[in-house]
Amino acid sequence: MNESMFGSPLSTAPNEDLQTVDPIMAARLLSGGVVALVTATWRGESNVIPISWHTPLSSKPPLLGVALEQSRYSTDMLSHAGEFAVNIPTKELANHVGYLGSLSGEDINKFEATQLDTFSGRRVAAPLISDCCAWIECEIVERIETGDHLLFIGLILSAQADSSIYDGDSFLPNSATTPLHFLGGNSYSTLRETFEARAPGGSDAPEAVLQSMLEEDLELSREAQEKKEEELGKLAKELEKGNIIDTKTLESELGIDLGSGGNLDLSKGTLLDDRNI
Ligand SMILES: Cc1cc2nc3c(=O)[nH]c(=O)nc-3n(C[C@H](O)[C@H](O)[C@H](O)COP(=O)(O)O)c2cc1C
Repeated sequence: MNESMFGSPLSTAPNEDLQTVDPIMAARLLSGGVVALVTATWRGESNVIPISWHTPLSSKPPLLGVALEQSRYSTDMLSHAGEFAVNIPTKELANHVGYLGSLSGEDINKFEATQLDTFSGRRVAAPLISDCCAWIECEIVERIETGDHLLFIGLILSAQADSSIYDGDSFLPNSATTPLHFLGGNSYSTLRETFEARAPGGSDAPEAVLQSMLEEDLELSREAQEKKEEELGKLAKELEKGNIIDTKTLESELGIDLGSGGNLDLSKGTLLDDRNI
């Protein structure tokens, strides 16, 4: 572990293979949040826009922000409606999300085009999309121009979630379906792995907590090393028996770099890789 963790600045970049990212695209580095389908109704017409630029802003009062590009049809609609609903889709709606993001409510009625089922909200006129897993209804309390976007600040009036996938505190990773996350471009993701981070108790000395975390990390890398040695041991036995070993498949399956055989005894078995094709 590096000394910089304790406060002194890093003297070297963490990795030599750094890519320069255009500042205009740098917000993509924050990708991975859940997709929100923002709905609004004005003069009897409803529209829906997929967004990824949204953020909680306050608990008391409960506020959230959604950033819409100023030229969007939805931006006008939310401004007029004075309220909106956030619908959180699951993986099942991934294709709909891409489709809804390619159309404008200015040209087409997206609810008619997609035949999405909706139900009535408790506090706003905006439709709630049935196939979603959580819904938040907001009244717009402020609009702030942020460059080419308009940040709508919504006061949360009501929120509901599918109890089979949300336990009142967090989404349940092992439920049949979880929210859809946006990674950028046409890439989406879902929760695949969850784990609990150890939180220090109030009375723990920070140095002692850090020290034990370092020890845990070391223990984890020791376990990985032991696992690698165990797998190499198994491979060595296979080779001893004269069996053929496909290194490319093994490398990708086990995450082990076998190189040109590494510390395996190749005298009896056969390594099958690029070198003998
Ligand atoms: C996954 C995804 C995330 C998006 N995020 C945003 C966003 O945060 N803000 C925004 O203004 N547009 C965003 N868009 C683009 C709009 O959804 C898209 O331009 C849409 O067609 C606008 O609809 P409208 O013309 O009916 O308002 C996103 C699109 C997709 C597919």
